[in-house]
Amino acid sequence: TQQETTFEVRPTSHPRTREQRAAALAELGFGTVFSDHMAHATWTLEQGWHDRRIEAYGPLSLDPAAAVLHYAQEIFEGLKAYRHADGTVWAFRPEANAARFAKSARRLALPELSEADFLDSITQLVRTDMEWVPDAPGSSLYLRPYMFASEAFLGVRAARRVEYLVIASPSGPYFTSGFTPVSIWVAEEYHRSGAGGTGEAKCGGNYAASLLPQQQAYEQGCQQVCFLDAATNTYLEELGGMNMFVVTADGAVHTPALTGTILEGVTRKSILQLVTDAGHEVHERAITLEEVKAGVASGEIAEVFACGTAAVITPIGTLKGTGFDLTVGDGTAGKVTNELYGLLTDLQYGRHEDTYGWMTR
Ligand code: COI
Repeated sequence: TQQETTFEVRPTSHPRTREQRAAALAELGFGTVFSDHMAHATWTLEQGWHDRRIEAYGPLSLDPAAAVLHYAQEIFEGLKAYRHADGTVWAFRPEANAARFAKSARRLALPELSEADFLDSITQLVRTDMEWVPDAPGSSLYLRPYMFASEAFLGVRAARRVEYLVIASPSGPYFTSGFTPVSIWVAEEYHRSGAGGTGEAKCGGNYAASLLPQQQAYEQGCQQVCFLDAATNTYLEELGGMNMFVVTADGAVHTPALTGTILEGVTRKSILQLVTDAGHEVHERAITLEEVKAGVASGEIAEVFACGTAAVITPIGTLKGTGFDLTVGDGTAGKVTNELYGLLTDLQYGRHEDTYGWMTR
């Protein structure tokens, strides 16, 4: 019935005032401000998904034995809702996130959430917290759906009680520097995933594994870490929290092919479509660190950029690792990077007609 598939809105009794909200939205970084409500549903082996609701944003009560705290049975998503000039609010490709969430759930032995539930949780939450969608240039409402094992049990098996939540965070750029080139540190000592592992799933554990090498990147003066494949330490995979592209001097666009150890980014997928339609040659292939080092040094590789929901498209100006420190091009955002940033954000912010059907009101 309608009742069973709809997130029921239970408005908070303590919404923040207009003034408090305006103050919270005044200076937006990434992931520090949260809206008044959250979506929440519970799954049990006996009942399946139930108790779908939009409720007050606030602390969760968890049993200290909740399995997620011990064995990290958890997955998440990231997507954004954008305010267009006419005031309407649109999500970018939420169906793609729903599909990936279901795939991640299978890998982590979590129950699948239907696309209908995923989309409804987002629609109801954004509708309820519409006033929290910022309108400053480059800002958006970052949506974070996630699912975790809440069963109080220390045995190692798939949990029989699970929570699904969506929280919403009005956000500005992921990097405080905005659309200016960042530097990356190539980790040769640590990897984020191996064959048959969880690299393709969007699970918290992958990000936990990236933190130490990410810290080493900071120590080297870099903002992001770049991972190589675990099997041969030869091929570029992805950055700590985003995919990666290189542009050769002839304007062709290259990105590591999906191997099962790389996260299939929604932004990555969208860029591949946009560059193809813009007439660029596109290659999804194995890319070695050696060819990137040589190409950047010779100028054969003109541009390198990172992409992700949080990062959008972020130029990479410096590539650093053990024994090398290279500036890409002249260290500023290149022509193709700029072109793609324009194409993608024009679509997301409604400045360009959505011929792909990627935006959902
Ligand atoms: C994203 O939403 O782009 C992520 O991958 C999560 C994180 C890097 C903020």
